Amino acid sequence: MGLLDGRTALVTGGSRGLGRAICLALAREGAKVAFNYARSDPEAGALVETLRQMGAEAWCFKVSVLDKPGLQGMVRDIEARAGTIDILVNNAGVGQVVPLALMEEEDWDRMMNINVKGAFLCSQAVLRGMIQQKRGRILNISSLAGVKMMQAPVHYSAAKAALKGFTEALAKEIGRYGITVNCLAPGVLDDGVSGNLPPAKKDDYLRHCALGRVGSFEEVAEMAAFLVSDRNSYMNGATVVLDGAV
Ligand SMILES: NC(=O)c1ccc[n+]([C@@H]2O[C@H](COP(=O)([O-])OP(=O)(O)OC[C@H]3O[C@@H](n4cnc5c(N)ncnc54)[C@H](OP(=O)(O)O)[C@@H]3O)[C@@H](O)[C@H]2O)c1
Repeated sequence: MGLLDGRTALVTGGSRGLGRAICLALAREGAKVAFNYARSDPEAGALVETLRQMGAEAWCFKVSVLDKPGLQGMVRDIEARAGTIDILVNNAGVGQVVPLALMEEEDWDRMMNINVKGAFLCSQAVLRGMIQQKRGRILNISSLAGVKMMQAPVHYSAAKAALKGFTEALAKEIGRYGITVNCLAPGVLDDGVSGNLPPAKKDDYLRHCALGRVGSFEEVAEMAAFLVSDRNSYMNGATVVLDGAV
């Protein structure tokens, strides 16, 4: 018996990095897994193959989290194949290392759009089905940079902090339908958006982290799989920090 047997999950930004690891963890726990992505065709195709080899039903969609009609079409497609989506993981995100003084308006907009507006559009796209079945789990992937005062790019911190507020307000709004909304805030991980972190920043993180190391995608994915499961039934509107004690 897996934690997620019989459930259907949609993971945004599943082609690489943390999203990929979450897809693998959810599939291992018995879920049918759909994910979207923006550009990485070979990686997405390879992941679908791997998920199917694990015995999971799996689909991928090249649809941006900012493409509202595309997202609606994707949700209809998933629902036709697998039934209502039970789990949404708003993982798709981007990072950028740039000081505020040099930040272009386009940098700010891209950061807020992909990280925050994307979560809004994806949540809205799946909510009708979740409300109808009076069941659902939404997990938003924030970051330590959004919940703790630390030296991080200002637009990234602002976007990730917005996801915490988004989580709390949405949890209040839709708890009555049996849908929970939670947030997971990882510290620095060994790749992905932290890949461009200047070495001095990474050293500083390691100095402050009680475990003395960065986290892995797999460690965060394990937590995500539990958080979206029925075993996690009373947590709602919460932000779980996974950072080795920084
Ligand atoms: N890595 C870390 O240290 C860390 C720490 C804390 C929080 N996080 C958060 O974890 C999440 C994943 O980060 P990551 O490190 O795994 O990043 P990553 O390796 O760069 O992967 C980002 C994923 O998001 C997808 N994506 C980007 N823009 C998209 C769009 N417009 N529409 C749909 N998908 C899009 C990418 O798709 P393509 O492959 O097609 O580009 C890719 O699958 C982010 O929200 C990030 O802020 C990461």
